[in-house]
Amino acid sequence: MTASSSQPWSERFETALHPAIAQFNASISFDIALIEYDITGSQAHAQMLAAAGILSEPEVEAMVQALEQIRQEYRSGVFRPGLDAEDVHFAVERRLTELIGDVGKKVHTGRSRNDQVATDVRLYVRAQIREVQRQLVEWQRVLVTRAQEHGETLIPGYTHLQRAQPVSLAHHLLAYFEMAERDWQRLEQLYARVNVMPLGSGALAGTTFPIDRQITARLLEFDEIGRNSLDGVSDRDFAVEFLAAAGLIMVHLSRFAEEVILWSSTEFGFVVLSDRVSTGSSIMPQKKNPDVPELVRGKVGRVCGHLQGLLMLLKGLPLAYNKDMQEDKEAIFDTVQTVRSCLEAMTILLEEGMTFQGDRLHQAVREDFANATDVADYLAKKGVPFREAYNLVGKLVKTCVQEGILLAELPLERWQELHPLIEADIFAAIAPETVVAARNSYGGTGFAQVRQQLAHAHDRIAQKTNL
Ligand code: ARG
Repeated sequence: MTASSSQPWSERFETALHPAIAQFNASISFDIALIEYDITGSQAHAQMLAAAGILSEPEVEAMVQALEQIRQEYRSGVFRPGLDAEDVHFAVERRLTELIGDVGKKVHTGRSRNDQVATDVRLYVRAQIREVQRQLVEWQRVLVTRAQEHGETLIPGYTHLQRAQPVSLAHHLLAYFEMAERDWQRLEQLYARVNVMPLGSGALAGTTFPIDRQITARLLEFDEIGRNSLDGVSDRDFAVEFLAAAGLIMVHLSRFAEEVILWSSTEFGFVVLSDRVSTGSSIMPQKKNPDVPELVRGKVGRVCGHLQGLLMLLKGLPLAYNKDMQEDKEAIFDTVQTVRSCLEAMTILLEEGMTFQGDRLHQAVREDFANATDVADYLAKKGVPFREAYNLVGKLVKTCVQEGILLAELPLERWQELHPLIEADIFAAIAPETVVAARNSYGGTGFAQVRQQLAHAHDRIAQKTNL
């Protein structure tokens, strides 16, 4: 008696799998996400088998066509394999055999599920890298558009979340452009390491069939072929790197999200969020909550958790394939889903959900001592040693705070008491617009610098879109 006809190995086993164990073992509920890559991989494998003379042309033609039919059946919702299929690889092979009979049973010649799954996952990650890169460029495009609108708008710049020096709002937004730029580049570099083909590694040691891996690599558009079969089936470094890259994207989005949350509070009042991107409270009728940036901030945890999980999953695995590796998939899929939905939501939020409050920002850059450095710089430029100037201004700020006045409110006599080199041009020198314009060192917030950086940002977007 054999175990059950549902598993390929049933001839070897005496009894059927315990139903709870079957469920425990199965990955079909999530690895179905790989089905199209699995089909494409099998089609290429079959074509290679024909080219290498291992299978006949008519056999392979039937296989390739039937695999295409399975793809259509999946897309139209007709093909929905259940738990008994165990995983997506068995599900496709079984359906193939249903469709074309015994010929279908030849598709697994010279291949193992171990090199098959490693290939599927790489094809999936490769495709998702391109999607995430496309979304990053969209995010950059919106950052640049909003920066362009706010070339002349000033916003307090902070260190330690204490008002430090005013900056141009465009400059602030372009800082996120730079983060996205690095995220894009990181994915670009990673792409090359993902795009290495494990197919042909067999279960772990290669195969006795005279396969031609160049053919499969060409058909599947892999740039390189893995050189070591043991590594081919057991390497998931590319997935770790992808999760790390995704983790950083999330960290960047989360930092922006945190600023939006602060800016939209009554205390800051720098932005108003539109009704299309905010939600209300069930009890406090006045509330309008920044749920979108809060969710983005909250979702960082799961992506960075997946990265940690995958590292832990791999750290003790002996070569080569181990079933532990089935656990890589949900981490990868959930990361893709999370990072893509967060990029989309933040892009919408910035593009149409946020109105910067010009009046409030105008007032904010005038209500503190963020121009104190500029008084010290003013004196230093007249020959006063910077540290001495710094101390003089520090004392002055202390008296102003005691008197409840700002630097701009001091009469000229008081300035000249502070230092005889100070002249009437001090008032213009400490106006927020002047202090921002004056920081014209390369990469600084000066308006001329920001205009250059905006032009540069446009070029970089154009370069990427022309790829
Ligand atoms: N579902 C399995 C996975 O995701 C496919 C590979 C199974 N290989 C094996 N030798 N059991 O890892």
